[in-house]
Amino acid sequence: MTAPLPRRATDPSAQDSQSAIAVARGTTPQLDYLKVREYWKRARPSMLGPYMMDGFGFPAGAGRFRFRGELHAVAETIRDLRPDISVLDLGCGVGVWTEYFAQRFAKVVAVEASSTLCEVLRERCSRYPNVTTYHGNVLSFEPKGKFGPSGGFGPTGGFGSTGGFTPTGGFGLVFLGGLLMYLEDRDVATLLRELIPYLEPGALVLCRESTIRRGINTLQGDYQVVYRSVETYRSLLGDAGFDVVSVRANTAYINVQMACELIKKWKALVPDRFRCLPVVGRLAYWGLRLGYPWNTRLIPWLLARMGREFPLLTNHFFVLRPRLSRRAGTSDRRDTSLHGLRIEEERFANAR
Ligand SMILES: C[S@@+](CC[C@H](N)C(=O)[O-])C[C@H]1O[C@@H](n2cnc3c(N)ncnc32)[C@H](O)[C@@H]1O
Repeated sequence: MTAPLPRRATDPSAQDSQSAIAVARGTTPQLDYLKVREYWKRARPSMLGPYMMDGFGFPAGAGRFRFRGELHAVAETIRDLRPDISVLDLGCGVGVWTEYFAQRFAKVVAVEASSTLCEVLRERCSRYPNVTTYHGNVLSFEPKGKFGPSGGFGPTGGFGSTGGFTPTGGFGLVFLGGLLMYLEDRDVATLLRELIPYLEPGALVLCRESTIRRGINTLQGDYQVVYRSVETYRSLLGDAGFDVVSVRANTAYINVQMACELIKKWKALVPDRFRCLPVVGRLAYWGLRLGYPWNTRLIPWLLARMGREFPLLTNHFFVLRPRLSRRAGTSDRRDTSLHGLRIEEERFANAR
């Protein structure tokens, strides 16, 4: 299937599944990581930017609404975690979640590849001494202990780091907020598997990913992303050594996404100079806000009965725990790896 080319790389109306080019459905996703990085380097470092909500005429409050809605789900998931744990926030964007975790937990390590977003992240988190930020690719990130006292990235990385952090005891929570959709399957699996040694017993991994109803949909072009179904994620995360403890629809996202998709249709129908986006965007946003949360179920249900999928894109939270190896007579994989980590740390402590 071939759809028209997006006008500009940063034109948000060119994003997401319905305006994709060269869509590869149901195949193993392949991404051009240079383009992914380039896209996020040019992203507007506002709350709307990393939430992909720029350019629709929505008020700034739309980002806060979505964040508040998500807070609900995240707060419930993490409510039993001890406050003295360390949190790893991978692909943290401008650090809205990093800040939230910093206010609740003992330490937060935040990794972000976009220099533009990283600048805002550092500014936001400068008043939190318990936050360490790293600018670089999560695929080459290694928590300290393996690559020496000042290192944050492995030999394939080449990114600088901003501080030294020792995850004594490992991380109690890892947050991946909209990161896995920018990674190919094998990299999702590698990243997750490599995280396991750094998780403390009882740790949670919380992912929030944009999803589609069936299969896989890879967007090529200037905005590169992989949309996977919940089922696809389940099997990918399972193969990476994790049990999917729960999956929950991100209703705040779905509400705003419905407004985004309406505006995209509006943009497709109405010539540029008649669009009045600041007015139409606000009308669409507030109209749907008034019906929240019941409309996030009712509207898709009604349209499904008419044979229409709306919104095309949804979003889910996945809560994961590392699966234990059940081979008789051996300790579980996670404990073995943590032991390995402790040895690494001792080695570096002795070398200093
Ligand atoms: C959808 S935004 C989410 C930002 C943030 N987690 C949030 O929930 O607000 C995805 C983020 O992942 C970052 N990202 C994508 N691929 C990355 C990679 N390989 N390494 C580090 N960051 C990456 C992007 O730069 C972007 O900031």
